[in-house]
Amino acid sequence: MNESPSIGPTPVTQPGADVSHSIDWDRIRADFPLLRRQVHGKPLIYFDSANTGQKPAAVIEAVDDFYRRHNANVSRAVHQLGSEATESYESARKKLARFLNVRADELVLCSGTTFAINLVAYSWALPRLKPGDAILLTRMEHHANIVPWQLIAERTGASIKVVELTPEGALDLDMLHALMTPEVKLLAVAHVSNVLGTANPVREICREARRRGIVTVVDGSQAVPHRPVDIKAIGCDFYALTGHKMCGPTGTGALWARKEHLVAMPPFIGGGEMIKEVSFDGTVYNDVPYKFEAGTPNIAGFVGLAAAVDYLEALGMANVEAREQALLAHLMEELSKFDGLRVFGTAPGKAAVVSFLVEGAHAHDLATLLDLEGVAIRSGQHCAHPLLQWFGVAATCRASLAFYNTHEEVEHFVAALHKVRKLLG
Ligand code: ALA
Repeated sequence: MNESPSIGPTPVTQPGADVSHSIDWDRIRADFPLLRRQVHGKPLIYFDSANTGQKPAAVIEAVDDFYRRHNANVSRAVHQLGSEATESYESARKKLARFLNVRADELVLCSGTTFAINLVAYSWALPRLKPGDAILLTRMEHHANIVPWQLIAERTGASIKVVELTPEGALDLDMLHALMTPEVKLLAVAHVSNVLGTANPVREICREARRRGIVTVVDGSQAVPHRPVDIKAIGCDFYALTGHKMCGPTGTGALWARKEHLVAMPPFIGGGEMIKEVSFDGTVYNDVPYKFEAGTPNIAGFVGLAAAVDYLEALGMANVEAREQALLAHLMEELSKFDGLRVFGTAPGKAAVVSFLVEGAHAHDLATLLDLEGVAIRSGQHCAHPLLQWFGVAATCRASLAFYNTHEEVEHFVAALHKVRKLLG
């Protein structure tokens, strides 16, 4: 089957070169059909990419093409379609591995970050942790990087320790180091916060943890779609990511793990595909990573994710990052002129995620009125209750940008914000 998307950006970069200013971003935006629609009679301004990313036509067409021409199950049939489906699925694994600078046989394909972190929790942590051990988390984690650890703590008797933040929403690194005590067996940390946009120094954190024998889990959901990520260079033990935030289909994602962990971990979910041999006397499990991929996977989804990786690679992640930083700088500049607006998370180097509140206006009311202006933002607690509790607020509005947004949209968004604020009195 066709491996490369028929449309999408033509390669524009040399590795490491920042030529983002010379990219025709309007042409790139035109690759995203949904961005042409209207909402409530207004042109859509989609500022909710931290929630899910929009999809270029190349991804939509790859999924469509799979179902129209290649649909079959993987690894279960010797027929032509079965081989094509298996080849496409494994090619997605290879592409994603290359994109993240890891080995393909260390990449477990799964439904997304939530599954990936639960896999580490149940397969690595549950058999190992015991009373007296501790799991170290941070205040800025998303629920998917909190609740699985609480479930494991309940079942093992381990405790949970939490690293707090600086007022600007960065990790308190002194506290982090002080909390890396001998009873800590595992540290789980977001690469980039989904609420604050804070980009954590995961390389340094993982180096320090490794020196102390602490196993590290990095939640990369909000990093992989927006900046170059080299997992090998980060030096973690586990890295979780989700496909639908990086232009791919929903229900796709991956867990990368060091091979020695994968080999030592028992399977999490049992069923077909994860075995070599089954009898009523026992089962011989498949090799890694297949040992962790029971059942029929989201084959079409991974075909789409492979197209998303092709798309992002052709664009160049350094260019994606530079573009989003330019949009963020513009947005922050405009918001700094807005009276009574509080931004949550101002750490240097943050990603293009801006949580905010406007004095006298409820977050949900603002988001609802902005929707009537065609602006899609998220409001609420963003699956990060402990973080919002720390800030002492019940909800925030969150505008999260991607490379396909425009400077005009930033201006329209701020104008819409002024308008709805007046409406709210
Ligand atoms: N979907 C979640 C968010 O909006 C992770 O941040």
